[in-house]
Amino acid sequence: MSTTLPAAGATHYAPNAELTRTAHVSGPEAYAALVAEAEADYEGYWARLAREFVAWKTPLTKTLDTSEAPFFKWFEDGTLNVSYNCLDRQVEAGSGDKTAIIFEADGGEVTTVTYSQLLERVCRASNVLRSLGVSKGDRVVIYMSMSIDGVVAMQACARIGATHSVVFGGFSAQSLRDRIADTGAVLVLTADQQVRGGKSLPLKAIVDEALALGGCDSVRQVVVTRRTGADIAMVPGRDLWMQELAGSQPSACEPEWVPAEHPLFLLYTSGSTGKPKGVQHSSGGYLLHAALTTKWTFDLKPDDVFWCTADIGWVTGHTYIAYGPLAIGATQVVFEGIPIFPDAGRFWQMIERHQVTIFYTAPTAIRSLIKASDGISASHPREFDLSSLRILGSVGEPINPAAWEWYHEQVGGGRCPIVDTWWQTETGGHMITPLPGATALVPGSCTLPFPGIMAAIVDETGEDVPNGQSGILVIKKPWPSMIRNVWHDEERYRSSYYPPELRGYYLAGDGAGRDAQTGYFTIGGRIDDVLNVSGHRMGTMEIESALVSCTDHVAEAAVVGRPDETSGEAVCAFVVLKGPRPEGEEAKRLAAVLRNWVGKEIGPIAKPKDIRFGDNLPKTRSGKIMRRLLRSIARGEEITQDISTLENPAVIEQLTRTN
Ligand code: WTA
Repeated sequence: MSTTLPAAGATHYAPNAELTRTAHVSGPEAYAALVAEAEADYEGYWARLAREFVAWKTPLTKTLDTSEAPFFKWFEDGTLNVSYNCLDRQVEAGSGDKTAIIFEADGGEVTTVTYSQLLERVCRASNVLRSLGVSKGDRVVIYMSMSIDGVVAMQACARIGATHSVVFGGFSAQSLRDRIADTGAVLVLTADQQVRGGKSLPLKAIVDEALALGGCDSVRQVVVTRRTGADIAMVPGRDLWMQELAGSQPSACEPEWVPAEHPLFLLYTSGSTGKPKGVQHSSGGYLLHAALTTKWTFDLKPDDVFWCTADIGWVTGHTYIAYGPLAIGATQVVFEGIPIFPDAGRFWQMIERHQVTIFYTAPTAIRSLIKASDGISASHPREFDLSSLRILGSVGEPINPAAWEWYHEQVGGGRCPIVDTWWQTETGGHMITPLPGATALVPGSCTLPFPGIMAAIVDETGEDVPNGQSGILVIKKPWPSMIRNVWHDEERYRSSYYPPELRGYYLAGDGAGRDAQTGYFTIGGRIDDVLNVSGHRMGTMEIESALVSCTDHVAEAAVVGRPDETSGEAVCAFVVLKGPRPEGEEAKRLAAVLRNWVGKEIGPIAKPKDIRFGDNLPKTRSGKIMRRLLRSIARGEEITQDISTLENPAVIEQLTRTN
């Protein structure tokens, strides 16, 4: 098909002959045939795949219900259990002794579990939850780090039909509280501590702090998994040890069969305004896309060793650790630690050690490892045997062509295709991505839509924009793994994703363009007030609210993003203090106070890199903060905006000073 051929002159990499011959989607013709099938009979295409990839308890007869658009229903009358699909199905198919997870702890100890063992652990944990009165539809918050236990916790919720909400272990007590309160969770699953980079960090103590902040009356129990054995406080009657409870539970547990639309999980993510949104995902449609994309995008075969380095606290860790790989019976690596401990060779050493064949990570990790190995040869990928690798992946932010080329050459030895996967918490799985045996690659482009995904670029009125021009990225038709709602906030779901001017298209929130010849997509980044720092999504307003809640010091604050070499984007905060504008050492001291404050309010990932103090903030005559001007100041660009109406032009100079 012509659209799979990259532009004349652009650096491109054709799929290798071996992959074109053997991949699940083998060659451009196979891709084109799937695209054509979906175009000719959209519902028929998805129904076929739903029957192929999901084991249904009650077979589906309905595919898509659009009667309450934009609240779409997929496979509505089918019933299933996600945990059954991930575990029992593999055991029943004779893969019980196959390794499901190779877990490497921060300190390097390795533990493996087979599918049968994982099933047993999930069943015991499910029985624990049931014995504590947790049932279908109840919400359970999971505040755990990367571990087999974390995956077990998620699978156990799925098994009994409880809706989980995983909160990243780096979020603060305040952020955790907000999520517990919004979900109305009946139970919190956590661990005594987490271990990262050689340090033991609290988890349970932060849960205690979060619950003490109030508003979490729905929580009846806190169940704690022992990780480090640290001496931690347990509240009698409320707090229980998972290992003690699980030991006395039966090793089998009948799954709860749920309708396809039953909410499998809520995952909070930042929007442009207000508090983080609880993105609600379904069971059937979500599982289908998790399984399908894991298989096709990574060309996953039975002998592969798959490693996704994301954390289970983010959507990538949901779809490509906790669900997708298990749903297709893969062997995967789960890693507790961080890429630079004990040194920046950790990823490469682990690839060599576990003979990883498919490696999926974020551009920010690649960029920081490029920097770390510069001049320090011991942690350079060339020092390791990476010959087991056959496919590489990238996710979370645009990958710049220089990082792409390094990844391709130094890690992939020039022979492994890179799948640059564009998607979002809301999309559930990959939306625009190369398929390794079918798509010629262009560094920096996520290439073409996954078969059946109707991605397009339009203008503000929803009109198609011709290839070669940029516009806003939309998905024209609903797809099975899409967000179903913002947890109990239908209005916010509508206004965030289906604004009336866009003709019923899903608004992704990213700017993008398509190549004039090939139609390949390139993502420009967010068009709203959402920042992407090291692949973590944050709303500028969330950080502003955190800053102004420091009422001892802060009168007003505005936050913008600016490009950063390593983290992609960096948080830059402009602050007006209640007292006089500080200078010199005092400014540095107060900047540190505010950074820590934001770290405590939201989590360390949200700490502003730059904090700048002004007597006031530049505003329009109508009193609006001039954000575009602030962005230019943050970037150190020449000011081209009209600043003649500013009451206090001196503020511009003040705001250029970093502390
Ligand atoms: C960005 C992460 C360019 C994008 C899976 C999107 C990307 C946001 C890519 C979603 C990519 C993700 N190329 N940009 N391959 N993947 N993004 O919800 O701005 O944490 O809207 O989901 O990350 O971030 P989220």
